[in-house]
Amino acid sequence: MPQTLGAAILGCGGIGTAHAWAVTRVPGVKMVACVDAIPERAQAFASRFGGDAYTDPVRALERSDVDFVLVTTANDLHAPLTIHALEAGKHVLVQKPMALNLRECDAMVAAAERSGKKLMVSFFEFFHPAFVRAKELIDDGVIGRIFMIKAIMAWYMPNTDAWRFNPAVSGGGILMDGHSHHVALFHWLVKEPVQSVFSEGGTLASEARVEDTAVTLLRTPSAIGEISGSMRLKEPCPQNGRYFKESIEIFGTDGTIQIKPEERPSLRVFSDNGRVAEKLNGWISPNLEWIPYEDRGRSMHFNGDEDPWVPEHRYFVDCIREDREPVSNGQFGREVMEMVFAGYESLRQGRSIKLPLDVAAGVGYQGIPR
Ligand SMILES: NC(=O)c1ccc[n+]([C@@H]2O[C@H](COP(=O)([O-])OP(=O)(O)OC[C@H]3O[C@@H](n4cnc5c(N)ncnc54)[C@H](O)[C@@H]3O)[C@@H](O)[C@H]2O)c1
Repeated sequence: MPQTLGAAILGCGGIGTAHAWAVTRVPGVKMVACVDAIPERAQAFASRFGGDAYTDPVRALERSDVDFVLVTTANDLHAPLTIHALEAGKHVLVQKPMALNLRECDAMVAAAERSGKKLMVSFFEFFHPAFVRAKELIDDGVIGRIFMIKAIMAWYMPNTDAWRFNPAVSGGGILMDGHSHHVALFHWLVKEPVQSVFSEGGTLASEARVEDTAVTLLRTPSAIGEISGSMRLKEPCPQNGRYFKESIEIFGTDGTIQIKPEERPSLRVFSDNGRVAEKLNGWISPNLEWIPYEDRGRSMHFNGDEDPWVPEHRYFVDCIREDREPVSNGQFGREVMEMVFAGYESLRQGRSIKLPLDVAAGVGYQGIPR
C-alpha cells in the first residue's frame, strides 16, 4: 500500500465539488486526475484540487498512481465507470443511486468481488454527526425498538430539461434521487429485511418526464417506514434560504429521535427509559462531534459545523488502508436499489410489491403512472 493514495474524480459537476474538496482534506491522499466530459470543468477542478485534467475516464484509469476513484457523474454512467475502474484495479466510491437497474448493480458487485477492491455507495447521512449520534443512541437502546420512521427529502428543481428529468440518464425521478437516501437510512437503522414496498407518486407539480413527487412505504416484520419526497417543493432551508428540506423522525418503543440537518440543533431526542446519559424526561439535544473549521463543507443545507463529506472520505480511505468492508458496500447498495425499483414496480402495478424483487423487474422508471 503506497504511503500516499492517489484519487481520481470522474464527474466535475455539482456534488463532485463536495467530494473533491473533502477528499483532498484527508491526510495521505492526493488528487491525481480530474475527469469531465466538459474540458473546462475538468481543468477548473485540476487547478483547484490538483492533478491532471482529462475528458476520457479510460485514460485517467490507466494511470498506475490512481488508487481509488470517486464516481460523481449522472446516474447512467455509475455502473459502466465503476465496473471499468474496478477492472482497472481501483477502489470505487460511487454516488447514489447506485445504478439504473438490478442487473447493473449485480455486475458492479461481481466486479468488486473479482477485483478484490472496495466498492462503496455514498450516502452522506451515514457520516453526518447528527445521524452518527442518532445511530449510536439507537444501538444503545435509548429509544427502544424502532417501529416507525417518517422521513422527507425535497427540494425545488426549476429546470425540468436537466438530466434528472430524463429517464434514460436518471433512471427515474424522486424515487431514484431523494428516496434512495432515506431507503438507505431506514435499511441502516432497522436491521430487518424489508418484506414489501408500496409507492404512490407521479408528476404532480411539473411537466417533467419522471415522477416529481412520491411517497413510499417500506415494511419489515416489526417496523414501517414512510418516505416522502419531491423535486418541486418551495420551502426555504434555514441555512441559506434555498429551497431544500430534510427531516427524519424515528419512533421507538421508548422514545423518539428527530433529525433536521438544516436546523440548529439538528438532533433532538426524547427517551423515557432512563438510558440517555445527558438528561431524562424531556427533549434533549446531545452534543455532536465537532467538525474542525477547516473540515467544514460548503454544502447547501447542513449546519456549517456539521458536515459529512470529510468524515465520509476519511472512512472510505480507512477502509482501503485497513482492508475493511465499507458499511454501504455494493451488496448494501444493491439492497437499497431493490427497494427503490420495487417502488417503481409498485407505481406501475398500483399495489404493494413483495421482496425479493425479480431481477428482470428491476428496470427503474417505466413511465408516468396514471
Ligand atoms: N448525496 C448527495 O447529496 C447528492 C447530491 C447531488 C447529486 N448527487 C448524485 O451525484 C451524481 C451527480 O450529480 P450532480 O448534481 O453533481 O450532477 P452534475 O450534472 O452537476 O455533474 C455531473 C458531471 O459529470 C460530467 N460528465 C458527463 N459525462 C461524463 C463522462 N463520460 N466522464 C466524466 N464526466 C462526465 C458532466 O459534464 C457534469 O459535470 C448523481 O448521481 C446524483 O444523484 C448526490
